[in-house]
Amino acid sequence: METLTLDFDETQTKLYLKISNAIRQAIVNGAVMPKEQLPSTRVLAEQLSVNRHTIMAAYNELIAQGWVKTKQRQGYSVADILPINSALADKTKHDNTANKHSWRVIKPSNHDFSRPANEYAFNFAGGNPDIELFPFNEFRSFINDALNRPSIKALNYGENNGYEPFIIEVSKYLRRVRAIVNKEIVVVNGTQEALYIIGQILLQSGDCVAVENLGYRPAWNALKNAGAELIGIKQTDQGIDVADLELLIKRHNIRLLYLTPLHQYPTTTTISAQHRVQIYRLAQQYNIPIIEDDYDHEFHYKSQPLPPMAANDPSGLVIYLSSFSKIMFPGIRLGVIAVDKSLASHIVSYRTLINHKANVLLQDAVARWMRDGGFERHLRKATRCYLKRRKCMIDVLNTFIDEGLTIKFTSPKGGMALWVDVGERAAEIAQLAKELGLFILAENAFHLHQYNDENKFIRLGFAGQSEEKIQQGLKLLKPLLNK
Ligand SMILES: Cc1ncc(COP(=O)(O)O)c(C=O)c1O
Repeated sequence: METLTLDFDETQTKLYLKISNAIRQAIVNGAVMPKEQLPSTRVLAEQLSVNRHTIMAAYNELIAQGWVKTKQRQGYSVADILPINSALADKTKHDNTANKHSWRVIKPSNHDFSRPANEYAFNFAGGNPDIELFPFNEFRSFINDALNRPSIKALNYGENNGYEPFIIEVSKYLRRVRAIVNKEIVVVNGTQEALYIIGQILLQSGDCVAVENLGYRPAWNALKNAGAELIGIKQTDQGIDVADLELLIKRHNIRLLYLTPLHQYPTTTTISAQHRVQIYRLAQQYNIPIIEDDYDHEFHYKSQPLPPMAANDPSGLVIYLSSFSKIMFPGIRLGVIAVDKSLASHIVSYRTLINHKANVLLQDAVARWMRDGGFERHLRKATRCYLKRRKCMIDVLNTFIDEGLTIKFTSPKGGMALWVDVGERAAEIAQLAKELGLFILAENAFHLHQYNDENKFIRLGFAGQSEEKIQQGLKLLKPLLNK
C-alpha cells in the first residue's frame, strides 16, 4: 500500500505514539483491513515528513500490541486477528447498523436486481445478444487507434451532442440502411438515458403516455418517473389496435406515444405500413410526439425490414431511438436519438444536468470500426447466426407439436425471440423452468395491467445462446409444457 490517510491525536506528545495511535485508529475504522499491506517506512516517512526511525518505532509499538505483523522483506501488514473487543470488532466489519443514518428517500425505485438472466444455465431471455460473437480482437485495434491518435479537443468538455466523426458515421448508416434523413443525432449512454431525458423534458404530472399493453417496463418506468400516467393500447397480431388508440386519445390527456413498431416488444409483431400511416396521421392531428424504439432493427430475417416511422416524418414528430446494446453488447452503453433539430438542443441541454456527454473514446473507436466496415460485417455475421438459432428453436418446437404438445406460435419475421402460446399455465411453467436452471419469462412480466394477463404466453429468446444450448434447454422445458 502506498498511501494511508491518518488522523492524528494532537494531545499525544510523543511523535512515534501519535503515529502508532493514528495507524491503530485507521485499522479500527476499517480504512485498512486485516491482512492488508501497510505503507512502507520510507513511504510513510516521506508522507509525514518524519524520520524513518520514528515510523519504525510506531510500527514496533503496534507489533507489540498485536495490531501489526511483519515478515522479512515483506514489510508491515495488519494482523490477521485484531486485539480488539467485540464492539470494536463489529465496527471494523462495518456492520454496525444501530446508529446508521436513515435516509429520506423521496423517489424510491424498486428495481429487482435479484439473480440476473445470465446466471442461469440456459438463458432464454428475449432480447439478449450473444456477446461471445462480438469481434473483440478486431475492435481492440480501433480502441488502440483512438488512443494512438486521440482527439484532444473532443476528449475535453464541450461538443455535448456527440463526437462529430461518430455522428457522421451513424448518420450515414441511418440514411443508407434505415432511410432516416433530416434528423439531428444526439449520442446517449443507451436508450434508457434517452427515455429518461425525453420524459423529463416533455412530460409533467397529469399527462398521459399511450403505450402498448404488453411492453418494455424499463421504458415505462422512465416515463412514469416524469409524472405521467401510462395508458395501455390494445394489441392485435399486427401491432396495435389503431381504433383503440384513437379512442384513448379522445378520452385521455395523451401527450406522448411510446411504440416498438418493427418487432413489438415482447410479442414480436410488426406494425404494418398501412397502420403506421394511420398512427402517424392521428399523432399529427392531435399533436402527439411518437417515441419509436427501434431496438433490434438489424435482426430481421429473409426480407428487408420496414423502414422506421422516423423515415417518413414530415412534421418532425418522431423521436427515433437506436441502441448499440443488441448490435454490440449492453455494457457498451451507447445509443443515439435521431430527432428534429428543434428538440435536439433541449435534449442536449437537459442531459448536462445528469451527465455532460457520452464517452468520447468509445465513440471514436466505434466510428473507426464503422468506417472500416467491421460494424456491418459483424451485423451480417450475427444476423446469419441468429437466423440459424431461430430455425433451430422453431424446428425443436415443431417436433414437440408433432409429438402431440399443444403449443402454438407464429415464426417472427425478425427479432430475437418467439412468443409461444403454451395454453394456460404460462407463469407456473416459467417459475418451474427457473428451478431447472432455465431463465424464461411469462406474459405476466410484460403486462401494463395484470388484469390483462391471460397466462398463456411465454417468451423464448433464441439469439443469446448456441443451438446446442437451445436444444438442451428446450428438452428440459418439454415435460413442463406437457402437463
Ligand atoms: C424494447 C427495448 N428498448 C431498448 C433496449 C435497449 O436499451 P439500452 O440501450 O438502454 O440498453 C432494449 C434492451 O433490452 C429493449 O428491449
